[in-house]
Amino acid sequence: MCGIVGYVGSNNTLDVLMGGLKRLEYRGYDSAGVAVVTDGGAIDSRKRAGKLAVLAENLEAEPLAAGNTGIGHTRWATHGGPTDANAHPHLADEGRLALIHNGIVENFVELRNELLTAGYTLESETDTEVVAATLGRVYREVGDLREAFRRVVGRLEGTFTLLAVHSEEPGVIVAARHNSPLVIGLGNGENFLGSDVAAFVEYTRRAVAINENNIAVITSDSVVVTDFNGEPANVQPFEVEWDAASADKGGWSSFMAKEIADQPEAIANTLRGRIGDGTVSIPELEGLGDEALRAIDRIVIVACGTAAYAASVAKYAIEQWSRIPVAVELSHEFRYMNPVLSERTLLISVSQSGETMDTLMAVKYARERGVKTLSVCNTQSATIPRESDGVIYTHAGPEVAVASTKAFVAQIVALYLFGLHLARVRSSLSTAELANITTQLSEVPEKLSEVLEVGGSIHNLAHWMADTRSVLFLGRHVGYPIALEGALKLKEISYIHAEGFAAGELKHGPIALIEPGQPVFVLVPSPRDDSTMHSKVVSNIQEIRARGARVIAIAEKGDAAVLPFADEVIPVPLAEPLIQPLLSVVPLQLFALELSTAKGLDVDQPRNLAKSVTVE
Ligand code: M6R
Repeated sequence: MCGIVGYVGSNNTLDVLMGGLKRLEYRGYDSAGVAVVTDGGAIDSRKRAGKLAVLAENLEAEPLAAGNTGIGHTRWATHGGPTDANAHPHLADEGRLALIHNGIVENFVELRNELLTAGYTLESETDTEVVAATLGRVYREVGDLREAFRRVVGRLEGTFTLLAVHSEEPGVIVAARHNSPLVIGLGNGENFLGSDVAAFVEYTRRAVAINENNIAVITSDSVVVTDFNGEPANVQPFEVEWDAASADKGGWSSFMAKEIADQPEAIANTLRGRIGDGTVSIPELEGLGDEALRAIDRIVIVACGTAAYAASVAKYAIEQWSRIPVAVELSHEFRYMNPVLSERTLLISVSQSGETMDTLMAVKYARERGVKTLSVCNTQSATIPRESDGVIYTHAGPEVAVASTKAFVAQIVALYLFGLHLARVRSSLSTAELANITTQLSEVPEKLSEVLEVGGSIHNLAHWMADTRSVLFLGRHVGYPIALEGALKLKEISYIHAEGFAAGELKHGPIALIEPGQPVFVLVPSPRDDSTMHSKVVSNIQEIRARGARVIAIAEKGDAAVLPFADEVIPVPLAEPLIQPLLSVVPLQLFALELSTAKGLDVDQPRNLAKSVTVE
C-alpha cells in the first residue's frame, strides 16, 4: 500500500526522491517523508502528515542538506493514524539510521517489549519504528549495516519491504522484501529502488525484479542481491515497456479521466498479436501446455474489487465457449473456504497491480496444493505473475487513478482471449464461431471510442444528481457484474451510497428501497438478443418506475422499447451480448467521475483508499 523509493547517485537526491514519490503517491497518500545521508555524514530527514504536496511545500521552504543517498516513503496507515510522528522514515541509533517500510510486522509487540525492557523510548505507534530501533541496536553491536540488517530481517514476521540507510555507511542502501513488492532500477553511475518501476522510470527503464525473501544492497555502481542467509540470489532483469510520459496526466483533469479515455487503446494493445486470421494465439500460454488445458475440468478465478467484477463478466463467456464450469471467488475468502481443488482445476488470478496481497496468497495456496495457476496482470514482472505458471498481460499501460477503469476492460478482454484459446484447444467452438467472436473483439476499440462520446450528457446528469444520497444499479446476465462495478465506482470516488443488484433479485427484497425520486441505473440487454432478457429487464424498469424510481437506462442505440419507461436513456453502440459489458461500463465510469468532480472531491486519490492493497 505504501510507496517506497531509494536512490544512490550523483543526481539531486531530493529531486529524485520527490519525483519518485509523486509517481508512487497513488499507493498511499496519508503522509510522506524523505531522508538523505548528507555529504556532511549525517542523516537529514523530514516527514509530514497529509498528501505529498504538504511535504513538498515544507521542503521548498527549507530543503534538506545535499547528499548522494536517500530514501522516501508515501504512506497508507496500518499501525497508528496518519500523523507526523507515525510517518516514515523512522530514525534510530541517535538519528544516524533511517528506515522506511511497506507492510505489517506481526511480531512487533515482542520486539517492542525487548526494546522497552532495554530502556529504549519510542515516539510513534508504528511497527516500523520498532524495526528501526532494533536495527539501530543490532548495528551498534555488529558495526556493519549489511550484517545488522540481515540479522534483523531474519527475525521479522509478517509482510515487509524495508529500506535502510546509515550515516556511517554513506552511499549504501540495504533493502529487503518479504511478501511485499520491491524492484531495482539500474542507471549509469546511479541505482534506484522502488515499490514499482514508476519510482524511477523517468531515469531508467532497465529494471531488476527481486524475489521473495531477498536482500538487496545497492551503491551507485553495484547491486548485490542475496537471500536472507546471505547466499547469492537469482534476479530477473527486464526492460520497462512504458515510459514516464505514459504515467503522466498529459493535459487531462485527472488520471481517471485520462484512463477512461485510454480504453480503446488499452483494448487494442491487449488484443494486438493475439487475434488474427479468425483465430486466437497466446504464445504466453505455451508454458501451460495444450494437454494440461485439455485436462482441466474446472476453473476458479480469484480476484478482489473491480478485478473480481471483470472475472464475473468473463465467467459467462468462458463457460459459454469452453463448457468448463467457472467459479469466481474473492481472493480473501478463497483460502478460508477450504476450496475443492484437484490437479484438474485451473486457478486464474486477476490483478491490475499483480501485488494485491489477498490474491497473491490465494495463488500461493493453490500452488501449494498442486493446482496450475494463470495470472492476468497489468504490471510487468509483478509478484503474482512471477508466482504463477503462466501469465497473460493486459497491455493497458500504467493505471494511476485509484478507481480502476482501463484495467477493468482490459482484464475482461484478456480473460475472453483465454476463453477462446481454451475453446480452440478443446474444440468446443467451431472455426466459424471462433472467427466471428474474434471479429467482434477486434471491433471493440472503435465502439469504445464511440461510447466515449456520451460524456456530455453524463456531465449534465451528474451535475443534476450531485446532491443524491443513494444510487442503485440493476443488471441481468453480464449486466449484473457491470451493475456491481458501476456501484463500486460511485462509492469509491463520490462517497455516495450505491448498490448493484441482479435485476431478477429485485422482487426478492431490494425493491423495498425504491421510493419516489430514487435514481436507478439499469443495464438493458440488447433487444436483438433472442433470449427474453430484454423484455424481462423492461418489465423490471416498469416495476420500479411504478414505485417512483427515476430510471437511467444504458441501452443499445435504437432500442425503442425502453424509451417510454426511462427518464434518461444513454445509448451504447450495437454489440453482441458478451461484448456489451465492455461498452456499457463506460457511461458508469464517466458518471462516477463527473459526480465526484461535481462534488469537488479528489477523483484520483479518494479518502481511505490506496491503489494496490498489499496487506491482508
Ligand atoms: O491491483 P488489483 O487489480 O489486484 O486490485 C484489486 C482491487 O483492489 C481494485 O480493483 C479496487 O477494487 C479498485 N480500487 C476499484 O476501482
